[in-house]
Amino acid sequence: MSLIEKLNSLARELEAGLDRALSLDTLEELRVEFLGRKGRLASIMSELPGVEPPERPAIGKLANEVKSRLNALFEGKKQTLEAAAQADVLKGFDPTLPGRMPWIGSLHPVTLVMDDICGIFRSLGYDVVLGPEIESDYYNFEALNIGPNHPARDMHDTLYISNNVLLRTHTSPMQIRTMQKTEPPLAVIAPGKVYRRDSDLTHTPMFHQIEGILVDRKVSMGDLRGTLQAFSQRIFGPDTRIRFRPSFFPFTEPSAEVDISCMFCAGKGQMDDGTVCRVCKGTGWLEVLGCGMVAPEVFQSVGYDPAEWSGFAFGMGVERIAMLKYGITDLRMFFENDLRFLKQIA
Ligand code: DAH
Repeated sequence: MSLIEKLNSLARELEAGLDRALSLDTLEELRVEFLGRKGRLASIMSELPGVEPPERPAIGKLANEVKSRLNALFEGKKQTLEAAAQADVLKGFDPTLPGRMPWIGSLHPVTLVMDDICGIFRSLGYDVVLGPEIESDYYNFEALNIGPNHPARDMHDTLYISNNVLLRTHTSPMQIRTMQKTEPPLAVIAPGKVYRRDSDLTHTPMFHQIEGILVDRKVSMGDLRGTLQAFSQRIFGPDTRIRFRPSFFPFTEPSAEVDISCMFCAGKGQMDDGTVCRVCKGTGWLEVLGCGMVAPEVFQSVGYDPAEWSGFAFGMGVERIAMLKYGITDLRMFFENDLRFLKQIA
């Protein structure tokens, strides 16, 4: 077979092969076989030196024509196959489907509840103040009428940094810090972290409290009760009732603990099906905070005249309020950062 015949038959063979190439991979294999550096066209052309010199130009010209025609055919087929592959991908794609929204994060439930509580008191005219978590013995105990040997210190499970420096066990030191800086009358709340050496189902070594103090002339326990009643109804719902139980705190006299009517059984102590309410354990009441009238010793420690000024104070645990508000039974949920939990409250 002459070289010219070989070139023409190679071209025919390739055209037939192209028709059968159904994927980009087989197409590439064909290209290498026919047009590659060591392919069949190259091998035919390697016979050129054996041809009589006068015939060489015509063969070379034909070879170039065949080569560029075949290249064009490959290119055309490649574009067809690529377009088909893309159409295939688009076939499974429904542009009318709604997109998947990324989760954009949100505030922690404890922060949300703390913001809620602060919002309620701000609307009642209170300022929000912040103070240090590392406190001195003086602010955490002494100025709050908790002397060095006071038994109330036992309740606090204090984490000490040194003899006189500690992690605050409550937000009550902010009563003292605020009164030292401010002339009465005043009304502030102080949210923040507090620390105690305590860890079990219902206690974590760090938790959050909100302290409140109001000082003015002729403040009464009735004012305290009205304030806490308004607060409770706004945070837990308009049907919430409150009650005061006598209690003791060194920095208030008299002191009380405040219960709210249980929102899970509407204060009845039992559910509609007659079973005992698990949240309030059948009592119909839930303890939410401690409060009282500011003790004269506390006023004296900041230089206020107890004969002229009177006031009330209260302190509450934010996690506890959040648990009651959302019906959460395990305090540790707040600290495990399980998104399945957090997303439900955000
Ligand atoms: N500091 C108290 C505690 O940590 C809570 C408290 C009780 C704060 C009575 C007050 C108050 O301001 O009047 O348990």
